[in-house]
Amino acid sequence: MREFVGKAVFVTGGASGIGLALGRAFAEVGCKVMLADIEKTALDAALASLSGSGPEIRGIVCDVADPASVDSAAKATFSAFGKVHILCNNAGVGARGGIDHIALDNWRWVLDVNLIGVVNGVRAFLPHMRAHGEGGHIVNTASMAGIINRFHGFHPYPATKFAVVGMSEGLAVEVKPFGIGVSILCPGFVRTNILESARNRPERYGPTTPPDAANPLYARLAELARTGMDPAEVARRVVAAVRNDELYVFTHPERRGAVEERFRAILAAFDRAAASSV
Ligand SMILES: NC(=O)c1ccc[n+]([C@@H]2O[C@H](COP(=O)([O-])OP(=O)(O)OC[C@H]3O[C@@H](n4cnc5c(N)ncnc54)[C@H](O)[C@@H]3O)[C@@H](O)[C@H]2O)c1
Repeated sequence: MREFVGKAVFVTGGASGIGLALGRAFAEVGCKVMLADIEKTALDAALASLSGSGPEIRGIVCDVADPASVDSAAKATFSAFGKVHILCNNAGVGARGGIDHIALDNWRWVLDVNLIGVVNGVRAFLPHMRAHGEGGHIVNTASMAGIINRFHGFHPYPATKFAVVGMSEGLAVEVKPFGIGVSILCPGFVRTNILESARNRPERYGPTTPPDAANPLYARLAELARTGMDPAEVARRVVAAVRNDELYVFTHPERRGAVEERFRAILAAFDRAAASSV
């Protein structure tokens, strides 16, 4: 998409972190913005912080895990803005627990928000984007954890992010004939509130697993989250990727070696298959 002025964008998880930065970045290039988020107070604060940043910025409370909630947020956005050209499926959460301890409710919550949330967004907006015929773009927020899994103790999280990468690659092929692009955002650590995801965990998923302060992994993650990239930098990369129709969006080039290592191991397994006589 070369032209942003006057186009409308819908951003999930828009009240905080990367979603809020995406809202600001798209507003600053002339888009009308609808921020959607499950947390009303944070959403109100986010809207206040964006005041004057773009032509029109609105917010709506929406639970991406609930298809009816996403459908009704989509309808409200069509009534407010007319056509929507850019969808950012960005809301995401993480839950802790080693493989032996992670509760099934943690799996369900993380899968519902990080994966089904993306599905719900695509289901609610893609028919509209195809019908208006002007093309558009879908940005699905995955993670470096959707390309390599280095942080054990968060198993549902990379499981959903690998799934988002896989489904987005297929989606890109399917929607290309309609002039709709797809970008898969794979950031490394970004300075956001992701480690406090449990603040927005609905009661239906049961109690939150208390943080295990003794686990050095969590202290390391807290440090990485505190010193991570500025979300505004991530959002600028996304706007450029939408403009240039880039499928993969990486923000941390220093992680390249780890990705190469994973693919070397995969290619070596192909070599063994080629050499195998069993
Ligand atoms: N922060 C990082 O280091 C990092 C790295 C890679 C990928 N990501 C991804 O970036 C995305 C944004 O996360 P962030 O880091 O900005 O965290 P964040 O916690 O700052 O923001 C996430 C937002 O999603 C909202 N949200 C949570 N559950 C929701 C639901 N059911 N429906 C609607 N909104 C919901 C939260 O209220 C919050 O406003 C996530 O998909 C996350 O997995 C983050």
